[in-house]
Amino acid sequence: MTLSFQLTLLCVSFLTIVASAVPKPDEKRVLDHDFTQHMGDEHNKQYDHEQFLGEDQAKTFDQLAPEESRRRLGVIVDKIDTNKDGFVDLSELKAWIQFTQRRYIEDDVQRQWKSHNSENNDTIHWDVYRTAVYGFMDEMDPLDLEKEDNGFSYKAMLTRDRRRWSVSDRDGDDALTKAEFTDFLHPEESPYMRDVVVTETVEDIDKDNDGKISVEEYIGDMYRATDDEADEPDWVKHERETFATFRDKDGDGSLNNDEVKDWIIPQDFDHAEAEAKHLIYEADSDSDEKLTKEEILSKYDVFVGSQATDFGEALVRHDEF
Ligand SMILES: *[C@@H]1O[C@H](CO)[C@@H](O)[C@H](O)[C@H]1NC(C)=O
Repeated sequence: MTLSFQLTLLCVSFLTIVASAVPKPDEKRVLDHDFTQHMGDEHNKQYDHEQFLGEDQAKTFDQLAPEESRRRLGVIVDKIDTNKDGFVDLSELKAWIQFTQRRYIEDDVQRQWKSHNSENNDTIHWDVYRTAVYGFMDEMDPLDLEKEDNGFSYKAMLTRDRRRWSVSDRDGDDALTKAEFTDFLHPEESPYMRDVVVTETVEDIDKDNDGKISVEEYIGDMYRATDDEADEPDWVKHERETFATFRDKDGDGSLNNDEVKDWIIPQDFDHAEAEAKHLIYEADSDSDEKLTKEEILSKYDVFVGSQATDFGEALVRHDEF
């Protein structure tokens, strides 16, 4: 979570200068599975909102005033409670999270499929995609193409997309069907894409390019010390222990590809269920392991909104003038 959030931020700042058609290569690539360690953390809240609402909807909710956001959450709660017994239980919440995630991916693929496939062909060819997304590079000064911003350069992004495209292209015709294009855009969802997802993750975090992830690189990816912080926060210390105890299985001091794979794509991890459990834990004030609408609405910031509060405050401040 922390990782994908940070990478998203990196990409957003980098990509503001690139045509909006360029995919954010690392977005949501890493499956989070240890969000409970960062409870209360702002990154975590944003992650929860995206899991609960889907990424598009989470953005929409960020723009809403708190009252409207609560009202819409109430409507959603009625939908989640499929057996209409007045409670949201674990299986209902898990089904909802799976549904929003699927909807987000389908919408995203549909949008990009249409924009790159104006003639409604069965496939999109690499040349067509490359021209649409990276065609601007043909006009650029070769030196500018190599320039790095936060470790990304246009050239590196093109290389990465090209490689990911080839892995997605299972029949090897250099053109992607919609299913292959889905793997390309959302590799984290596809078993075929596991190795390339691991490779991309290692490349992102491995700042000294030795092909492995040291503990400093691992920590540096989720946390940067600031001057006014004398001591590392507890969760960072905890992450150091996690690295030594769980991540670095062979104890050689750094993570190889297999260890990274176990970390970001754990085999026996049900991520929708873990998130559902986490949300119930956060809002279950009477500890009966299911949620009433009142319990959910009284913790609405956990489910849908924290920035909405800032939005409200901004309005108030504006009114003072
Ligand atoms: C669609 O397919 C036709 C025939 O293969 C091709 O000429 C055309 O360029 C394709 N259109 C796009 C947008 O890729």
